[in-house]
Amino acid sequence: MGTSDSHNSLLSLSLIFILIIMLCYKAKVEGASALNNKKISGFYVFGDSTVDPGNNDYIKTTFRSNFPPYGRDFPNQVPTGRFTNGMLSTDYIASYIGLKKEVLPPYLDPNLSIEELITGVSFASAGSGFDPLTPTITNVIPIEKQLEYFKECKRKVEGVVGKERTENHMKKAAFFISAGTNDFVLNYFILPIQRKTYTLLAYQQFLIQHVKQFIQGLLAEGAERIVIAGVPPFGCLPVMITLKSPNTFLQRQCLTNYSSIARDYNLHLQHELHLLQLKLNIIHPSPKIYYADIYGPLADIIQAPQKFGFDEVSSGCCGSGLIEASFMCNKISNVCSDPSKYVFWDSIHPTGKAYHHIFMASLPIIDSIISS
Ligand SMILES: *[C@@H]1O[C@H](CO)[C@@H](O)[C@H](O)[C@H]1NC(C)=O
Ligand SMILES: *[C@@H]1O[C@H](CO)[C@@H](O)[C@H](O)[C@H]1NC(C)=O
Repeated sequence: MGTSDSHNSLLSLSLIFILIIMLCYKAKVEGASALNNKKISGFYVFGDSTVDPGNNDYIKTTFRSNFPPYGRDFPNQVPTGRFTNGMLSTDYIASYIGLKKEVLPPYLDPNLSIEELITGVSFASAGSGFDPLTPTITNVIPIEKQLEYFKECKRKVEGVVGKERTENHMKKAAFFISAGTNDFVLNYFILPIQRKTYTLLAYQQFLIQHVKQFIQGLLAEGAERIVIAGVPPFGCLPVMITLKSPNTFLQRQCLTNYSSIARDYNLHLQHELHLLQLKLNIIHPSPKIYYADIYGPLADIIQAPQKFGFDEVSSGCCGSGLIEASFMCNKISNVCSDPSKYVFWDSIHPTGKAYHHIFMASLPIIDSIISS
């Protein structure tokens, strides 16, 4: 072995050594961030089925999912009212931020302890939206009513721990809002109700106005860390492919024209959130508004499913997968043999595995809230 050879092997040995040190360091940092998770005191969620853990079980609506095969892959196979086979992204987030809860419960569950109200709950209602007309279609909980429920929840907490501690708690809590799909897909494209009143651009502006109003409502309640989720690629939802493709049985693929409407809205929303943030920056300490991208993570798996371990991207696992959701996906429906190969559980909602992927994509935001 020549000098240069032994030199080279010494070099590669040191490289491996450095690599090991870097990996150990990374593991340590990750361990530390898991321990440091007291930085988010509570987690409060608002919106539609993408984040509803079962509030609709407690109201008069047919828009429910508290029966098999929903919940098939949830702990103990319970159909909780989540519109999927497993857990939602917000369940994974609640568990990740270390609030001593594995899943995020629905606020309307009458058996919740005060501890549960403190660590976090979801006020979301499947079928709801930012347009006040949307929840009237399915008779579900409007987003303004969800805010009223939050105020009620806050009063209950105040009653036990006092006003000052509750205010401090809310400052350190994270607020997460995910809605908008029912406004576009159900209300504007499918039925269509609001299409007669608004152009697409005007409807986007109308919805964003409501998003901003909702954020103002949370700020008024003392929220300082607010995450707003965007909307998914509408044209890739199985129900949209079924109802809007000219030739759905020959070829099932995303309708790019509807997805580009979602992209447009997301851009518009991000811009408005940015402007709002600039205004908030004058306040000290300034509340922070975050945008969570749903579109990207879903579009990524739909474009290259194999890379993420998926096979089926254009139809849901429940029933025919083309049209069923809620009561149409029920205990007599056929269910695919392996939901983990499916991006969609029913014709509208992602599988638990897809929700996990969305959760993973949201981690940089959650981590930055934790470390802020
Ligand atoms: C609430 O708790 C009681 C007693 O443990 C139980 O019988 C009831 O089913 C629970 N209700 C709900 C909605 O979980
Ligand atoms: C989108 O494209 C589909 C298929 O080409 C068509 O049927 C539909 O009317 C289009 N919709 C919009 C809103 O552009």
